Amino acid sequence: MKKLSIIIAIFSCSMINGQVMTTNGGAPVGDNQNSKTAGEYGPVLLEDVHLIEKLAAFDRERIPERVVHARGAGAFGYFESTKDMSKFTKASLFQGNSTKTDLAVRFSTVIHGKGSPETARDPRGFAVKFYTDNGNYDIVGNNLPVFFIRDAIKFPDLVHSLKPSPVTNKQDPNRFFDFFSNVPETTHMVTRLYTDLGIPKGYQYMNGSSVHGFKWINKDGEVTYVKYSWVSKQGEISLDIEQAAKQQAMDWQHATVSLREDIANKNYPQWDLYVQLIKPQDMHGFDFWPLDATKDWPADKIEKIKIGTMTLNRNPINYFQEVESIAMSPGNLVPGIEPSEDKLLQGRLFSYFDTQRHRLGPNNQQIKVNRPKEKVVNYNSDSYSSNDNSKFSNPDINFQPSSKVDVAENEKYKSSEKQLKNVMITQKKISKTNDFEQAGDFYRSLSEKGKTHLITNLVGDLGKVTDRKIQKTMITYFYRADRDYGMRVAKALKFSQKDFMN
Ligand code: HEM
Repeated sequence: MKKLSIIIAIFSCSMINGQVMTTNGGAPVGDNQNSKTAGEYGPVLLEDVHLIEKLAAFDRERIPERVVHARGAGAFGYFESTKDMSKFTKASLFQGNSTKTDLAVRFSTVIHGKGSPETARDPRGFAVKFYTDNGNYDIVGNNLPVFFIRDAIKFPDLVHSLKPSPVTNKQDPNRFFDFFSNVPETTHMVTRLYTDLGIPKGYQYMNGSSVHGFKWINKDGEVTYVKYSWVSKQGEISLDIEQAAKQQAMDWQHATVSLREDIANKNYPQWDLYVQLIKPQDMHGFDFWPLDATKDWPADKIEKIKIGTMTLNRNPINYFQEVESIAMSPGNLVPGIEPSEDKLLQGRLFSYFDTQRHRLGPNNQQIKVNRPKEKVVNYNSDSYSSNDNSKFSNPDINFQPSSKVDVAENEKYKSSEKQLKNVMITQKKISKTNDFEQAGDFYRSLSEKGKTHLITNLVGDLGKVTDRKIQKTMITYFYRADRDYGMRVAKALKFSQKDFMN
């Protein structure tokens, strides 16, 4: 009897569900609990290859975290179109009115590290990867419909100002309001971020936006500019600062947990996808430039058209492999969708693929979660973790053109063309900056409670700024957006009219 129970104990240590533990080389492991030693009390032998390999794998578990948007949660599901958009784009996912496309999403906070609280005031990333039958298409957006800046050249400085100080390692309003006060175009985003929308209750409860306009191209090569918005069917629900403080004290990983729980309980979150369309000839007909990422496309001027619904119905099985390793990029585009001239977007087209080569390696698009549904056929080759040879019908030919292998381009997928006339290469701000008007429109659209929360949240941080000149400049921006808005911030920060006379 005793002998039998020893056998059962040994057996249950090495086999779960009938699986024998193996080394990375596939050989069965005899003992994963005791190192190989000279004598019962050691020392440990270098020849214990299993021990050395186990420690070596552990030593290398971490990869660089994302430089921004490091904390996030992911899920999988599908998009189902509800309106045929073939008049405007040949993108396969938007053809017909019940086309289904598999997708992955990653929601995130922006500024702090991978283990940071999900209660932070921060924009939330809202990134979707569609696995279409014409390659991967990513909409890498945020929960707010505008951004702080309009030119990619400012992005590293914006992020440096918002990240913890290089001296104290603490995020400091003195630093980011210094930046904001020198860049008036931030006023609109700062205003939205300091409402309660800056702390969503959970990822299911936020809307999403592409922020940028893109170009849709139809089968005749005609261009329409498009901006996307996701509208949560769970409602857009935020936490005010008291609710956020309570949540933080109880569980600051609540957003990840509640997304997982809803999906596990088959309470599948859904979002409707809307588009707004502008014809190229109408682009100059607004008092703002539609490809300026600090501007929203007002729904009362540019109609929002519902084109489909996204459903999330599967949780990741392995966080590292399916969420940490996902590589979302605004450069993942498919036939029928092209980048617009937006100066912020143009910088992003470089930055994401570049950072992913650094973060995940040069062959990151071969990682399972990033692999397109369709076979990849090109002769980009080798480097670290190159393991996709399926593209080679003749493995000896790794060049094109060749008379031995018929790998060819298809002209119907060529980019759209645009005539540039009298264009001067230049380095200057757009003339239609209109930095404050939409911030004011947004302020006036808030309820009285919404306005009060905005002022309280804003003054909570701006009040920590020790340089009165920075506070004063910010107040002038808020005043230019809306007189009442500026006056209320000034009053809360104990400025008088006299302070603005000189
Ligand atoms: C020039 C401006 C910008 C630059 C240079 C930039 C750069 C980056 C970089 C380097 C990453 C890390 C990507 C990775 O490691 O996989 C990232 C992530 C992200 N960015 Fe940006 N970003 C910019 C503006 C924006 C804007 C305007 C939005 C929203 C519309 C946005 C949304 C996101 C999201 C959602 C992620 C996380 C993607 C994920 O979940 O993997 N970024 N950004």
